[in-house]
Amino acid sequence: MNDFSDKLIQILNHGALNLALGLGYSLKIFDVMDEIGEPADLEILAKATGLDNRYLKEWLGIMVTGEIITLVANPQNKKNPRQIILAEKKDQEKDEEKEWYYLPPAHADVLTRRAGNSNLGVYTQETPLLTLSAMEAVQKGFLTGEGVSFDHYPQFQGFMSELSNAKHKQVLIKDFLPSVEDGRLVKSLGQGIQVCDIGCGEGVALILMAKAFPNSRFLGLDNHEAAISIAKKAAQNMGLPNARFKISDAAQIQGDRQMFQKFDYVTAFDAIHDQSHPTKVLEGIRAMLKPGGLFSMVDIKASTRLAKNLDHPMGPFLYTVSLMHCMPVGLNDQGRGLGMMWGKEQALTLLARAGFDRVDALKIPNDPFNLHFLAKALTHSYK
Ligand SMILES: C[S@@+](CC[C@H](N)C(=O)[O-])C[C@H]1O[C@@H](n2cnc3c(N)ncnc32)[C@H](O)[C@@H]1O
Repeated sequence: MNDFSDKLIQILNHGALNLALGLGYSLKIFDVMDEIGEPADLEILAKATGLDNRYLKEWLGIMVTGEIITLVANPQNKKNPRQIILAEKKDQEKDEEKEWYYLPPAHADVLTRRAGNSNLGVYTQETPLLTLSAMEAVQKGFLTGEGVSFDHYPQFQGFMSELSNAKHKQVLIKDFLPSVEDGRLVKSLGQGIQVCDIGCGEGVALILMAKAFPNSRFLGLDNHEAAISIAKKAAQNMGLPNARFKISDAAQIQGDRQMFQKFDYVTAFDAIHDQSHPTKVLEGIRAMLKPGGLFSMVDIKASTRLAKNLDHPMGPFLYTVSLMHCMPVGLNDQGRGLGMMWGKEQALTLLARAGFDRVDALKIPNDPFNLHFLAKALTHSYK
């Protein structure tokens, strides 16, 4: 066998592992094992997770051979759980039937919901979910060049909220906002300003901001009706009178004079690369800002040029998510289909074309995978 065969075998194993990891994550098995905190046998795991023994046993086979979970023959030996302790010969048969499973804390640190913005576990659901949603539609797209409608992804908003929660909960208020303009933005937010979040989805980021800054007023816009209805309910349940949500196509803001020059700060988290008409959207955002207003566009950190992404630590994963969702969604309505890997160079060009006066591409504290494009509007832009 040559080296490439070895690589393909690894790919088959890792692809299968991704699927099983995604299943385990969504069923919260890792969280339960992390809470148990010591080796547990099948009975204990089935009881604690509320899941079927037989399914669980098969899944554990994948996790153990994939070295995610450790098989422990003797739980007394959990201090060295990576090693299967061979039982004494006379007890071998008896002990072989006993198997305990252990999730090492170092794995739980990046795999469970408690991991916050270090949580890579949440992403294991993405490829299985996108395959389930859009495999046939994307295959068809290869033949026709057509986009894939957002209706193909019924579970996508829920998943995005989970991602958003993992990403924003710990860093948005504590690290990200204070980093903008050396703390001046947070000062203004504390005093009370008008903020709009474009492509807000189910409102996770906006709700966090509205809760942290009760003197400011927040408007979330998204063209997905179901997402806006969930966002409205969440804000209501949390008693946030300063958070409003509206169903709105961001490409239409440009023609809505009521929106012009109304906002001090506009955000778009992971939302611009999905747009069919990104230039129109960015021009609309530019027009929404009061003179001196700021726009924070958070998007994937990559280059527009493939040759510069060769060392990207998540290249194949991100291009896959783009192929299965971002790019075909952005092709709808004769759209541009930028895709998630549209890259820094293209982002800067589009922001400059939309008329922003100053744009900085900034690193985000504790977030190696995204860039913060901070754009400033010095004057008003509309005619
Ligand atoms: C990848 S999701 C990001 C959601 C959210 N900002 C987050 O970080 O979780 C992109 C969002 O943009 C919204 N979107 C796409 N095209 C839009 C448009 N033309 N107008 C308004 N929202 C749009 C989608 O419905 C979706 O909620």
